[in-house]
Amino acid sequence: MNVLVVGSGGREHALSWKIAQSSLCEKLFIAPGNAGTASLGENISIAVDDFEAMKDLVLEHNISMVVVGPEDPLVKGIYDYFSADEALKEVTVIGPSKRGAQLEGSKEFSKQFMQKFGVPTAAYRSFSKDTLETGYDFLETLNPPFVLKADGLAAGKGVLIIDDLTEAKAELKAMLADAKFGDASSKVVIEEFLDGIELSVFVLTDGESYKVLPSAKDYKRIGEGDIGLNTGGMGAISPVPFADKFFLEKVEDRIIKPTVNGLKEEGIVYKGFIFIGLMNVNGDPYVIEYNVRMGDPETEVVIPRIKSDLLNLFKGIGDGTFSEKDFYVDEDTAVTVMLVSGGYPEAYEKGKVMSGFEDCEDSILFHAGTKQEGEDVVTNGGRVLAITSYGRDMDIALAKSFANAEKINFENKYFRRDIGFDLQTEEA
Ligand code: AMP
Ligand code: GLY
Repeated sequence: MNVLVVGSGGREHALSWKIAQSSLCEKLFIAPGNAGTASLGENISIAVDDFEAMKDLVLEHNISMVVVGPEDPLVKGIYDYFSADEALKEVTVIGPSKRGAQLEGSKEFSKQFMQKFGVPTAAYRSFSKDTLETGYDFLETLNPPFVLKADGLAAGKGVLIIDDLTEAKAELKAMLADAKFGDASSKVVIEEFLDGIELSVFVLTDGESYKVLPSAKDYKRIGEGDIGLNTGGMGAISPVPFADKFFLEKVEDRIIKPTVNGLKEEGIVYKGFIFIGLMNVNGDPYVIEYNVRMGDPETEVVIPRIKSDLLNLFKGIGDGTFSEKDFYVDEDTAVTVMLVSGGYPEAYEKGKVMSGFEDCEDSILFHAGTKQEGEDVVTNGGRVLAITSYGRDMDIALAKSFANAEKINFENKYFRRDIGFDLQTEEA
């Protein structure tokens, strides 16, 4: 079959890499893709939310499977666009319906969903401009730190964690009354702070049954020791050593089953990935957030550990045979180290010529922000390249990624040399 992957990051390169290995894949298109995906299929310069251009592409090339990487087109309703169109309705779209995408698109919706279906999460209340004063009162009843979340999508910046009550009130006002995050903060969820270690669990579902994908932990801060500004993710590790069988059983029983059943009960069409951001609080899992897509850079460690044919699983989602498909995961650890442009996540320069690719051994190089310019591969984003390696344990895998991170060159390259630092003791 002909397949379209929507997106342009390391996540989409990793998905394309896996899909291209399937004997079911005839021709692969990536919209818009990057310099890495160009080696696996044909990059098509279409914006991820230009559904009409995608329709033309799908019809012209007889594409029967569309795999959606980022949240934006999902929240904007790409699934519904395809299923409502007579010419496109037979195309399998991997991703939830617009309603399902609200699990990520609205914090309030996702909190209500969790509450309704008994999924453990932080206690919360939600406020609007009209209830600002009640919001102040609610903050006074909580212990710091205070967690304020813009309801809508805010490019990963909509969550504030604040120690000081006065500052928390000022931020609440900035969000609600002064539209700090535009429309996204017209509602704000205030919730209890959860103290624990974060990890993520990924699920693939056809809305009836599900497969639990490998767990992963990402490193969000720019600086070593987890300090400084938040980024999209500077590296990731899978599996997460402390997410043992007992913990994952709790996740499945308390979180995954009620989530999938809840979607079904609500009549929400959901054929895609669920990314469950978790806090491990003294051995018990709590949901911090749902995302309706795979994580980036988590995909770059989760997908390489899947032994089964991913496209065959997607095909099963399309034709109703998903529950019958086998699902195998590699026991080895996979790690990824992200090379970023100097200055990221603040201002940075693009267009830096990259070199050293051919010197790298024993790693998979997933391109994130790159593009081909004539003979050269040049940087084209903050996060540039994810260097993924396997190993019997985390340290063996990390040694390979760090060695290759030194070999790739571009002006102002930066990467964290401490990915996995907090997991060392559990691993030993
Ligand atoms: P989110 O965008 O919901 O993932 O939140 C961003 C980050 O804020 C998370 O990755 C957590 O590190 C942190 N966070 C969110 N909610 C909570 C909470 N209730 N307690 C503690 N930390 C939180
Ligand atoms: N790495 C976090 C995310 O993809 O949202």
